Amino acid sequence: MIGLGTMGAGIAEVFARAGIGVVAIEADAAAMSRGVGILDASLSRAVTRGRLTAAQQAEIRSRIRPAAGFGEAAAVDLAIEVVPERMAIKREIFAELDRVCSPDAILATNTSSLSVTAIAAASKHPGRVIGMHFFNPAPVMRLVEVVSTVLTTDGVTAAASDLARRLGKTPVEIGDRAGFIANALLLPYLNHALHLMATGYASRADIDLAATAGIGLPMGPLALLDLIGLDTALSIMDVLHGEFGLPRYMPTPLLRRLSDAGRTGRKAGRGIYDYAESSGSDNDHQGGNSRASAAAPKAVTLIGAGDDVEAELASAMATAGINVTRNAAHPTDLVLIAAEAGRPVLPASLAAGRPQQSVGLHLVGKLAAGTLAEVVQTSLSSADAIAAGTALAAKLGLVPVRAPDRPGFLAGQLLYAHLADAVRMCQEGYSNPTEIDTAMKLGCGYPRGPFELIDAAGAATVLTGLEAMHEAYGYPEFAPPPLLAEHAAAGIPFSAGPRPGR
Ligand code: CAA
Repeated sequence: MIGLGTMGAGIAEVFARAGIGVVAIEADAAAMSRGVGILDASLSRAVTRGRLTAAQQAEIRSRIRPAAGFGEAAAVDLAIEVVPERMAIKREIFAELDRVCSPDAILATNTSSLSVTAIAAASKHPGRVIGMHFFNPAPVMRLVEVVSTVLTTDGVTAAASDLARRLGKTPVEIGDRAGFIANALLLPYLNHALHLMATGYASRADIDLAATAGIGLPMGPLALLDLIGLDTALSIMDVLHGEFGLPRYMPTPLLRRLSDAGRTGRKAGRGIYDYAESSGSDNDHQGGNSRASAAAPKAVTLIGAGDDVEAELASAMATAGINVTRNAAHPTDLVLIAAEAGRPVLPASLAAGRPQQSVGLHLVGKLAAGTLAEVVQTSLSSADAIAAGTALAAKLGLVPVRAPDRPGFLAGQLLYAHLADAVRMCQEGYSNPTEIDTAMKLGCGYPRGPFELIDAAGAATVLTGLEAMHEAYGYPEFAPPPLLAEHAAAGIPFSAGPRPGR
């Protein structure tokens, strides 16, 4: 293991837990001692949680041997480089490995942003160089992307995949393209989320809540950026932008500024959130939704499409002791428009004649406790109406977030372009729905992969959402990919597999 930073220490732990001996190489004694500290902290945590006994901890720890230098890599079967993402350093390391390792050893890089081909091409034996890309936290996330290049020798990919399985991970084999599968999909979505925060589209806490409570992801995109590191995220975005050139891949300026400022996330104690112990009030991602402190309205005018959602909302409000009327002329505290995806709230609020007292309410899922409720604010909604709408949603047991009256509201803004990226990756023949879903579930903890999400919502629904966003913004990332339109038109789910003749 060359490099014992957060990822290197995590990967070393994975090998040692699988019974494989590890020789750890670091630049100097201070770096080695930091790395060993990360490793020890992770193993001690597992003991505290009752996942390992002290004896197992000692046995695992004894398999990892800090080495004095590269010479000790002579006997290894596999070397993995996990050092900072700078090509010059990687080339130096591969030159050393070429010199020291036996000719049959596999040389792997855990790079997440550099070209494996470029690293391999600089090696004396490019055929044995491969990418083995692990995910953070390495001991937990089950995916390994096994990246082969046009230079990789037969058998090396299969050997790396077998090894990943021996480590208890699931390999997904792919070619060398910027971002591979998971980062090429994940990072543009995270970058877009930061852009929404930077431009004031929605608040930091609401963006993260929309992803967790609305889409069901294990972490919000902003908290995840802090976990990955804003500097790492920036370098991946730069590489994606360099390779694909599309505006979608342009790092949002705030990503670069925070990274330049050293606010690189958890590892620096401060990124988008503050992790210093004294700043608990700043960590709104860890707390509940404080803004539902206004009193819930006592009387509400409900305007809807006459569908089930409207009926369920009316009944839930009545059960919560709120007077509900459909008559906009009644002097109620709030006009609540049951909002529909892809349809603006403002026309309905104008038609009701009390636009200042109106907000939309869009449910992301069925009306039930814990469901995300987007409180849609039009350009005429008053602060009181927004506060009342938020308090009302909280009173109904929903999770309120505020969103502007724009196509996609908040969850759709985050999700639809992300799903379109997955479809495009498939359309371009780089991967397929099964592997993409596997990568996102095992690498990023998604409960359902992008294609499972599309199938659950219906390709036609996602298509309509994208069309509305594309029409409103004109951004190319919202342009529906033809493959999605084909699935929507034919009514076939992506889980049905490739169609005959393809
Ligand atoms: N090291 C070791 N173990 C860790 C850990 C760490 N840093 N963080 C969490 N764990 C373990 C915990 O010990 C716990 O294990 P047990 O169940 O055995 O006790 C388990 O993970 C769950 O942890 P928690 O209960 O504390 O927290 P959680 O349930 O909220 O899960 C999470 C935490 C696993 C990180 C989850 O939030 C998640 O899956 N998040 C998404 C992470 C993600 O997307 N990673 C990929 C980033 S992209 C990348 O890495 C590629 C790149 O090149 C940038």
